[in-house]
Amino acid sequence: MDNQIKILVKDRDGKTYNLVTPTDMSLNLMEVLKLNEFDVEGTCGGIAMCASCQCYIKSKHKLEEKSYDEDAMLSEAFHVKQDSRLGCQIKITEALNGLVVEIAPKEN
Ligand code: FES
Repeated sequence: MDNQIKILVKDRDGKTYNLVTPTDMSLNLMEVLKLNEFDVEGTCGGIAMCASCQCYIKSKHKLEEKSYDEDAMLSEAFHVKQDSRLGCQIKITEALNGLVVEIAPKEN
């Protein structure tokens, strides 16, 4: 699978789905979830200002460190856990093959 990775996604109803997504389109995780019609709002368009793309990262992949903005947004968001990340801040790269994510509950 050149330029593609697999991601396992658990939605807000607890159902799991295997996705195959390209690594050469500069997508982030929020965009991948929206493209695959998951119930993820992405209200701010991906600038770490809404937390509606919050996911829990369930696999042990080494992700880029959180930016100041991501950290700040998560400190104000609901349902935040140790493994919370903003999907829009996770770039899809080959290193993320096999990523396991769970979509966090809606804010309200
Ligand atoms: S889309 Fe708004 S924080 Fe990710």
